[in-house]
Amino acid sequence: MTPNQPGQMPKLPIPGVKYLVAIGSGKGGVGKTTVSVNLAVGLASLGYKAGLMDADVYGPNVPLMMGINRTPMALGERIQPIEQFGVKLMSMGFLNPGDKPLVWRGPMLHSVIQQFLRGVDWGELDYLVIDLPPGTGDVQLSLIQTAPITGAIVVTTPSDVSLEDARKAIFMFHQVKVPILGMVENMSFLMCPHFDGGAFPGRTATRSASPHRRR
Ligand SMILES: Nc1ncnc2c1ncn2[C@@H]1O[C@H](COP(=O)(O)OP(=O)(O)O)[C@@H](O)[C@H]1O
Ligand SMILES: [Mg+2]
Repeated sequence: MTPNQPGQMPKLPIPGVKYLVAIGSGKGGVGKTTVSVNLAVGLASLGYKAGLMDADVYGPNVPLMMGINRTPMALGERIQPIEQFGVKLMSMGFLNPGDKPLVWRGPMLHSVIQQFLRGVDWGELDYLVIDLPPGTGDVQLSLIQTAPITGAIVVTTPSDVSLEDARKAIFMFHQVKVPILGMVENMSFLMCPHFDGGAFPGRTATRSASPHRRR
């Protein structure tokens, strides 16, 4: 990725939206969507106006996790987000439900991400949480280059493989000058019903994931 090239698109604000928080990771299956959903619902329950944009276009899991099986309506040119648990939601899963995969290349992904950011009637939001797909690919690039992301949260598990990929995600955010708000170490221990001590601890992400403190 070459983030600061001349000709880069301007990062126009999204009218009405105060903070954009991207949830990323290097890997799939580490809990990004789980963290995104819980963060958005948690913010809403604290009284903030919260939205959740599912940017995982190829594997949109937000509808299932939020228990939604509906298609959003359009009002004029604007798509109306679906509201659940006080959170405004938009996901590719609303438009392409079921198991049929999407086969799209970069330019299509770019236009969907722009539609989700600017063609959805988000209204007034304190926080728009963005559930990113795994990795450091086209969707991340499209978002980061065109939206004023306030900060990113990187989700990992304690495994070396996940941490290695999380470091790449952190490095990507550093490169494009998106501040890292924090890391979530998910699945960091196992509660064992047959073991009196209760939990098998994992290794902490804070100790091993920083790009400046490589093992
Ligand atoms: N802390 C956890 N404990 C148990 N299961 C979890 C936990 N976090 C996530 N999961 C489960 O792991 C699976 C992958 O999580 P998901 O949030 O979809 O990951 P990602 O979005 O990174 O691909 C889901 O089935 C989710 O319910
Ligand atoms: Mg996901």
